[in-house]
Amino acid sequence: DSPILTDTHGREHTYLRISLIERCNLRCNYCMPEEGIQLSPKSHLMTYEEIYTIAKVFADHGVRKIRLTGGEPLIRKDFTTILEKLATLDVSLTLTTNGVIIDRFIDDLKKYNLNGINLSLDSLQAEKFREITRRDNFTQVWDNLHLLVSEGFKVKVNAVLMKDVNDNEIIDFIELTKDLPVSVRFIEFMPFDGNKWNIDKTVSYAEIMDKVRDHFTEDQLERLQDAPNDTSKNYKIKNYKGSFGIISSVTNPFCDSCNRIRLTANGRIKNCLFSSSETDLLQALRAGEAIEPLIAKAMRSKFKVRGGMDTLEKLQQPELHGKNRSMITIGG
Ligand code: GTP
Ligand code: 5AD
Ligand code: SF4
Repeated sequence: DSPILTDTHGREHTYLRISLIERCNLRCNYCMPEEGIQLSPKSHLMTYEEIYTIAKVFADHGVRKIRLTGGEPLIRKDFTTILEKLATLDVSLTLTTNGVIIDRFIDDLKKYNLNGINLSLDSLQAEKFREITRRDNFTQVWDNLHLLVSEGFKVKVNAVLMKDVNDNEIIDFIELTKDLPVSVRFIEFMPFDGNKWNIDKTVSYAEIMDKVRDHFTEDQLERLQDAPNDTSKNYKIKNYKGSFGIISSVTNPFCDSCNRIRLTANGRIKNCLFSSSETDLLQALRAGEAIEPLIAKAMRSKFKVRGGMDTLEKLQQPELHGKNRSMITIGG
């Protein structure tokens, strides 16, 4: 493979996350500011042809997995066309979604071999769900989670934990894995522009494991082997069908094994989830220029840890994390 996707720390980037859209049908309070965000003008967003053209360059240079994110990717009108195009590349296609309308796409997802569906679901209580998402769609998401499992999809459930909001549901989420063969991932709440983060709202890896160990015995708890480049440290309760994991970007960053690069809906590369520096590929593509040199340059400037916020002190500085985009336009 050509080395344009290897950074100066020797990490090979084989996983591309593409944000398809900046809008969402939910309004999660940890993801976007209440007043909303300034959306890019439509003409600044990648068309499906442009998405394909850029994705193909990445695939030609070694990307083997593409994850579609948003906003909410399924509300993009040409979502199925995008799938159809990307399915022609030699990559594994995956999706991160809030699941509200995924029942409409089951046949397409099967047809185009979507093999990893990550569903965001932060509460198992309808009222709490409404509080967090500012929308009333709990039942749809709950039903669709079961639908996906019964249709045979490999499903991960993402739950962002926030102190005194949903951290009393850790055991309930683990109990969900008793009969459902899903992987629940507890995510440490992270800072982005406009999400009113502070460290006291983050439920840490250590705190989560304390709660787990208060409830289950050491005998019941099994540490699983994590897949290479996994974001989560994974466990299961013996004899349960599913598993659970913790994504600890705040207290235990996993940047050493980072293989991710991000493409925003307006066609810019982010070389790290936490990096505020962006490289505009779309403008170059529209000007008829080669994008490989830009990709190589973006890779060369990638920091070793968290876009340069290598300590918790730096992560806590709003002048640093507030320069980043809002999560809604990054896509996780
Ligand atoms: P898999 O492809 O199944 O491994 O999923 P994933 O964890 O890569 O992606 P997903 O979209 O499900 O994201 C789950 C959580 O992990 C979100 O909160 C993301 O922000 C976070 N996450 C995903 N990729 C990265 C990453 O590269 N760095 C950090 N720090 N967090 C990430
Ligand atoms: N901190 C941690 N995870 C977040 N996500 C969105 N915003 C944040 C945040 N501030 C998660 C979503 C989704 C995934 C792509 O990113 O819940 O599951
Ligand atoms: Fe990679 Fe940045 Fe995430 Fe670390 S914080 S794993 S470097 S994307």
